Amino acid sequence: MCVMTINFHQIKHYINHYIVAKRGGHGVHSPFAFQLCEEVFYNRNSFYDLDALKKVRAQLLEDRTELIVEDFGAGSKTFTSNKRKIKDLAAKGISSEKQSETLYKLINFLNCNTIIELGTSIGLNTLYLAKATKNGKVITIEGSKSLVEFASALAKKNNISNVQFIEAKFDDTLPTLLQNNPASLIYIDGNHTYEATMRYFNLALSKKDNHTLLIFDDIYWSEGMTRAWNDIKTNTSVTMSIDLFHFGIIFFKEEVKEKVDLKLFL
Ligand SMILES: C[S@@+](CC[C@H](N)C(=O)[O-])C[C@H]1O[C@@H](n2cnc3c(N)ncnc32)[C@H](O)[C@@H]1O
Repeated sequence: MCVMTINFHQIKHYINHYIVAKRGGHGVHSPFAFQLCEEVFYNRNSFYDLDALKKVRAQLLEDRTELIVEDFGAGSKTFTSNKRKIKDLAAKGISSEKQSETLYKLINFLNCNTIIELGTSIGLNTLYLAKATKNGKVITIEGSKSLVEFASALAKKNNISNVQFIEAKFDDTLPTLLQNNPASLIYIDGNHTYEATMRYFNLALSKKDNHTLLIFDDIYWSEGMTRAWNDIKTNTSVTMSIDLFHFGIIFFKEEVKEKVDLKLFL
């Protein structure tokens, strides 16, 4: 979840999450989910890539460059004009360090090799995805031209070459993209409305296989997003859902015989 103005809906769900979510893998019965707790969610090992990416984040948090950014999604609760400083986007408009690090560990552990990211912004999270899938590739889509230019320059500066940047609207690109690139992970982080989220879920559903992973960001951003998350996790094809509050993960693994719905506190 991007750091942003907090609303009543989010506070209410955060309090509920704080009370009911499991911690540290305690009470997690599914062997696969328990393994994820050990190897990903509560894995405190240090990773060389993550130390390097911390430094990139620190530089972006100091970067006063101003971009004119077109808004393609459900609107911003944080920014009121279309002029945005990189340092403000780095502080309030992108995934937090903990969130990006969790994605990195998840991709690393599950060996995801084709990743689609909907919503690039300044491209810092994209670097985490790219570093985690060293032998694979990341395709990231962003509607705003200035952000695509900034993000691709950032990747170049950090010697990352396994990312394809696409400047387009999600709806115009995703159907063909999924047709040509069977993705192991689709990370949906933009256009946070009920309708758009369900559209992207249904598209992904038509192309999923046993190993496909879907991640929905900002599932408590609004009532519509929470309704979408509830509809998604109760879909009969879904065998496991993990709610981390800031984002939700969906699995289709057939070997998970009894449906698992977990809430974890990170
Ligand atoms: C929250 S930011 C992405 C943050 C990034 N994924 C991260 O983890 O830090 C969402 C981005 O999606 C873009 N976006 C939203 N809706 C879009 C759409 N329908 N088509 C293309 N881009 C869109 C916005 O311009 C914005 O830069």
